[in-house]
Amino acid sequence: MTRPVRLAINGASGRMGRALLDLLGADARFTLVHAVVVPESTRDGEVMFPGAANPLRYAHDWSHAPAVDVVIDFSGAAGLAAALDHCQIHGTALVSGTTGLDAALEARLAEAGKHIAILRAANFSLGVAVLARLLRSAAAALPAWDLEIVEVHHCRKRDAPSGTALALGRAAAEARQTTLEAAAVYRRDGQTGERDEGSIGFAVVRGGDIVGEHTAMLVGHGERLELIHRATDRSIFARGALQAAYWLAGREPGHWQLDDVIATSH
Ligand SMILES: NC(=O)c1ccc[n+]([C@@H]2O[C@H](COP(=O)([O-])OP(=O)(O)OC[C@H]3O[C@@H](n4cnc5c(N)ncnc54)[C@H](OP(=O)(O)O)[C@@H]3O)[C@@H](O)[C@H]2O)c1
Repeated sequence: MTRPVRLAINGASGRMGRALLDLLGADARFTLVHAVVVPESTRDGEVMFPGAANPLRYAHDWSHAPAVDVVIDFSGAAGLAAALDHCQIHGTALVSGTTGLDAALEARLAEAGKHIAILRAANFSLGVAVLARLLRSAAAALPAWDLEIVEVHHCRKRDAPSGTALALGRAAAEARQTTLEAAAVYRRDGQTGERDEGSIGFAVVRGGDIVGEHTAMLVGHGERLELIHRATDRSIFARGALQAAYWLAGREPGHWQLDDVIATSH
């Protein structure tokens, strides 16, 4: 695109929304044209970037949104559903990092990919994309080793295991020619019996302000391989989402992956 990409942010007052706004001030690739906060938010109508040449106000819905090339969504299920309505009506591309969706919204998104360009990632960090590649290869090379995925996040996170942990589990399951549904063990409590061969176990830790850590542990007899990613700054997700949005603007409809962006951006 020769002109800046017209961008809207959904969930603008959240942790990720604020991280995106922080980066956008210095990013000439984009013009921010709309920013949606939760309907009950006290920020509705508040001016963003006071003093800017064209001050923009937070909006509580999409009713007065101008023309948009790409929506970046980090909100929740209800917020994403409203943004998806808007994207479908206007043929707008959608980048979403929202996790913890129910089956109905997953099905809506799957269907919407026939008509609009959608790029979703449970984790927009480049390091996690590479971790997934490494895990696929390790899980296939060591098929008999026990695989456990441990994820650690801040105390305000609402879903568990994290979308990233599930995506890693899915990648490993596929590399072992099975499915996450068949292999996953999410709970161990009381008399669990021995570990099921071939299963993929998940463990969840929550506390304080931890941005996000994922460990894939492949355990053999007498040796153990650990692949670890630690996020120390949430701006990595915001940077990845912006890179994805720039790449997605003007693409044909379909479901795109962060891997597609990485493959053609380096
Ligand atoms: N893929 C990734 O790389 C990545 C990275 C970090 C987070 N995430 C995911 O992204 C989502 C948001 O994370 P976060 O840490 O930014 O959470 P957060 O701080 O809770 O932000 C979510 C924001 O969305 C707002 N919201 C809720 N309903 C809305 C609606 N109907 N319309 C517009 N905005 C709405 C919330 O407002 P209220 O606070 O008033 O409810 C909140 O400000 C979560 O699902 C999280 O797991 C993904």
